[in-house]
Amino acid sequence: MMSHQIVRGMSTACRMSQIKKLVVVGGGQMGAGIAQVSAATGHEVTICDVNEDVLTKSTAAIEKSLQRVASKKFAENPDQGKSFISETMSRIQTSTDPRSCVGDVDLVLEAIVENLKIKQDLFKDLDSIAPAHTIFATNTSSLPVRDIAANTTRKDRFGGVHFFNPVPMMKLVEVVKAYDTSQDTFDALLAWGKALGKTVVSCKDTPGFLVNRLLVPYLLEAVRLYERGDGTKEDIDTAMKLGAGYPMGPFQLLDYVGLDTSKFIIAGWHEMDPTNPLFKPSPLLDRLVAEGKLGMKSGEGFYSYRKY
Ligand code: 3HC
Repeated sequence: MMSHQIVRGMSTACRMSQIKKLVVVGGGQMGAGIAQVSAATGHEVTICDVNEDVLTKSTAAIEKSLQRVASKKFAENPDQGKSFISETMSRIQTSTDPRSCVGDVDLVLEAIVENLKIKQDLFKDLDSIAPAHTIFATNTSSLPVRDIAANTTRKDRFGGVHFFNPVPMMKLVEVVKAYDTSQDTFDALLAWGKALGKTVVSCKDTPGFLVNRLLVPYLLEAVRLYERGDGTKEDIDTAMKLGAGYPMGPFQLLDYVGLDTSKFIIAGWHEMDPTNPLFKPSPLLDRLVAEGKLGMKSGEGFYSYRKY
């Protein structure tokens, strides 16, 4: 007879291997990065996006990033590096129709625009056709996971998995247990995060989870410091890199993450808690976004990335 411990170990092992095949909805920077690390660690993944051009850009970005990874990982053996890239790419498919992709997947992860209604509608639609065992998860930066799951019938099989940009390089994944997330679902998501080679931390379903709750107010405070004229953006960036050991200064990081993303996050939190000074929107950030200066992706944010 098997001991209780062995039986419990087997059930954990079963859950550990639960997520093998997934759909990533959203082919932007985050979606592409998540698909890349999933495929590189042996998972079958389909990236879905309404826009065919986005999908073409996603696969090109993944291939480029894999070349950077392979040039380090297989520096001594370029042939192995080439196989790693082609095998990883062979595990990635693309589609413009998420409904046609969810039939046999273990996980649907969304990394689309930070808009509650759009996320709710997506999951409501997929809930009606995805198999019962399929876990749904959101890569939201700031919205409550519980609200995103609200219109589904699988709130127990719904959680948050929050990645960081650039996904192939950043070692952390936050796994969020919302109010209704079952322990099995949470364990499966933790196991999946580990299977991707990431370090996982457990989070409650609170605004910004752990990282963004600290990082976003810091970034906004840097903008306020600059708006007051207390320092140039170049000096503030240098100060935080050399004085605090951060890999990027706050303005470089804002440009890297996207000014629109940061603005959406702070606007959502301000609406939720208007009296909290940490969540106060920044007129300068809002103006830059209104001017289409979104950071590196648009060619200009706090700094210019245009090549003249
Ligand atoms: N794919 C593969 N490799 C990559 C890569 C990518 N997308 N981006 C960078 N690399 C590799 C490079 O190949 C390089 O390798 P090497 O050292 O062997 O040459 C290495 O990373 C370093 O890259 P760079 O020399 O280009 O530049 P840096 O040394 O500055 O590193 C960085 C780049 C890893 C992005 C680093 O600056 C960094 O860690 N910055 C902070 C990023 C951060 O804070 N991210 C979190 C943002 S918050 C978030 O995402 C949450 C969201 O909800 C808002």
